[in-house]
Amino acid sequence: MVQIKIFDTTLRDGEQSPGVNLNQLEKIEIAKQLERFGIDIMEAGFPASSQGDFEAVKKIAETIQDVSVTGLARAKKSDIDIAWEALKVAKEPRLHLFIATSPIHMEHKLMKTPEEVIETSVNMVSYAKEKFTHVEWSAEDASRSDLDFLATIIEKVIDAGATVINLPDTVGYTTPKEYGEMFRYIKENVPNIDKVDLSAHCHDDLGLAVANSLAAIENGATQIEGTINGIGERAGNAALEEFAVALNIRKDFYPYNTNLVLKETKRTSDLVSKFTGMAVPGNKAVVGRNAFAHESGIHQDGVLKNASTYEIITPELVGIQSNNLVLGKHSGRHAFKDRIEQLGYQLTEEKLSEAFTAFKLLTDRKKEVTDDDLFVILTDIQTDTSDVKRYQLEAFQVQYGSYNLPTATVALTTPDGSRVETACTGQGSVEALYNTIERLMKETIHLTDFNLSSIGQGRDALAEVHVSMTVNDTPVSGRGAAQDVLEAAAQAFINAVNRVFLNQHSNVTAKAQI
Ligand code: KIV
Ligand code: ZN
Repeated sequence: MVQIKIFDTTLRDGEQSPGVNLNQLEKIEIAKQLERFGIDIMEAGFPASSQGDFEAVKKIAETIQDVSVTGLARAKKSDIDIAWEALKVAKEPRLHLFIATSPIHMEHKLMKTPEEVIETSVNMVSYAKEKFTHVEWSAEDASRSDLDFLATIIEKVIDAGATVINLPDTVGYTTPKEYGEMFRYIKENVPNIDKVDLSAHCHDDLGLAVANSLAAIENGATQIEGTINGIGERAGNAALEEFAVALNIRKDFYPYNTNLVLKETKRTSDLVSKFTGMAVPGNKAVVGRNAFAHESGIHQDGVLKNASTYEIITPELVGIQSNNLVLGKHSGRHAFKDRIEQLGYQLTEEKLSEAFTAFKLLTDRKKEVTDDDLFVILTDIQTDTSDVKRYQLEAFQVQYGSYNLPTATVALTTPDGSRVETACTGQGSVEALYNTIERLMKETIHLTDFNLSSIGQGRDALAEVHVSMTVNDTPVSGRGAAQDVLEAAAQAFINAVNRVFLNQHSNVTAKAQI
């Protein structure tokens, strides 16, 4: 079995998804979950792109011990220096240096000749190697680059000290056959290629990112890059959970191993969806809510007789438990602490008390508290940002009846600490609620998307709402979870607006400029 390294870029390429702006605490929680998921390399951000990214990468590099942490840099001394400042505390500092190699990018974006691109690459890899032990060099837009030019430049950057060569399909243009052939060509035509890991990085514009990644490993790639839930620029990146489960389920065909802990798949997906505000489509492979649902009578009959008739993946493989009831109304603090430690959380005594209080409140309203519910409580507590000035929901009431105009009354605390209250109508309960909240805020808000789902099953399941909006022209997303649908909707709206304050607080100035 060949060992394949998994390079996760959820916190860098994934965070480049429109409307996604993770704050530092959320990034750290995702980083910890990625560590539990068993990835090998974590791209924590692009330190030179903003002060917020720099600080988040630094904090992750300090916190994460079992995964190699890396950061992105353009082929510029200043980017490399900034990345070093953020990453030098990491257990195994690693740099991801990139430069475009396709004629179209070299001519129109970089305005450099191929010779200049070679020279810059060699110089910057050598410069980076003075600081970093591991340097990954990426040929941006490799799949539209000339193969002979690629082979020449790769040989030179390996001589200059690169330890990983990454060949991205930056615009998601290539097909599995072509992408595989590019890897084979490089394997066969670069004399020093066996000194390095060869990596694939695919985008999903044609829906081929996972297929292309599989074609790459069949042709010599030993590292796969991607994101959780396939989030990322445009149509996103290769979904790591799909790639990993494909290898596992078709091990008869793919003789490759990864270090991933597949039973952490669903939880990792849920966490990323929750913090990014990007809902997972119901029919998404591996982690969508319908991935294990059987609707037609013939299928249901088959599954009841023998699950393997229509089910190639068991829900348990990816960590979906049919009965994950763990705690209830009578569970004490000790049992609660034990369970959350089993879930991989280490809380301070103060946070533990906060979490236990939230759990007890939930048991008053919900008979069965599952791991999924605990996960919501724990991540909310770990990412609490109440020290930052922001809007807070104090109280609300919505009146709805088939013959009345829906009306909402809302009381909020504003970022300057004053309490404000008003009432508005709307065509439906959510619109009335949102019109009222918006009237109490100074910002100009345009709602662009609204998604409602449940966490777990049953009538008393928690409701989860994801919203996307622009706040003063900045795209943001937000999320709210509560027992009541309208409360979850109100929290999601307020959470999205508050992200603007959080981003100002952590000095997030711009999305990565690539
Ligand atoms: O898609 C791409 O080419 C990238 C590079 C920065 C590696 O994300
Ligand atoms: Zn990319």
